Amino acid sequence: MTHFDHIKAFAFDAYGTLFDVHSAVGEYREKIGGKADQLSALWRSKQLEYTWLRSLMGVHADFWQVTQDALDYTLDSHDIDDEDLRENLMNAYLRLACYPEVKNMLAELKDKGMRVTVLSNGSPDMLEAALQSSGLNHDFDAIFSVEEVGIYKPHPSVYQIACDYLKLKPEEICFQSSNAWDAAGAAQFGFKVVWINRFGQKRERLPKGADMELQSLEGLPGLVG
Ligand code: LAC
Repeated sequence: MTHFDHIKAFAFDAYGTLFDVHSAVGEYREKIGGKADQLSALWRSKQLEYTWLRSLMGVHADFWQVTQDALDYTLDSHDIDDEDLRENLMNAYLRLACYPEVKNMLAELKDKGMRVTVLSNGSPDMLEAALQSSGLNHDFDAIFSVEEVGIYKPHPSVYQIACDYLKLKPEEICFQSSNAWDAAGAAQFGFKVVWINRFGQKRERLPKGADMELQSLEGLPGLVG
């Protein structure tokens, strides 16, 4: 008996977990030059910051808008005024590279009778585009977007979407995120949580943490019988 024996479905965070968010800037690395990594990191951190701030303020806008706002702040911070680059980077967000282990891992989970879903901040259009571009659009049983509840992770009503749709208790769903704060939010909600610590980050000091830590999604199917 392991504590994954009661798991009936898996829910995956999208950005950072299934998709490499830094692959958008990666496509334009030559044009951007030496500050490309810094720019990508600031874009991502501002994007997340804006989701939390908007949630606290009660002024929701979808993830496409928030991602644009974060990019505008980031380009401005780097004194870049280039409308083509801005448009190209936003379009690249619709075809982010998917991590190499994702497709086989999903097939293995499905072979074990598991339902597999996405539970993401992304708007439905953004998620559909990225999944399609990676050839994953037929691999999930359901795609859940925060747009259903109009507030961002880690608000509990976001994680509740998966329970309501799947008709499962939180502890019957295993949630994966590479974002430690998202893993903490999901654990607080009551999901079983695997933190996909792709970047060797330190653990967050938050009330609850993941039940398990893996370096990639590859080992995930091995957790269930
Ligand atoms: C998501 C963000 C947290 O996909 O990456 O929900």
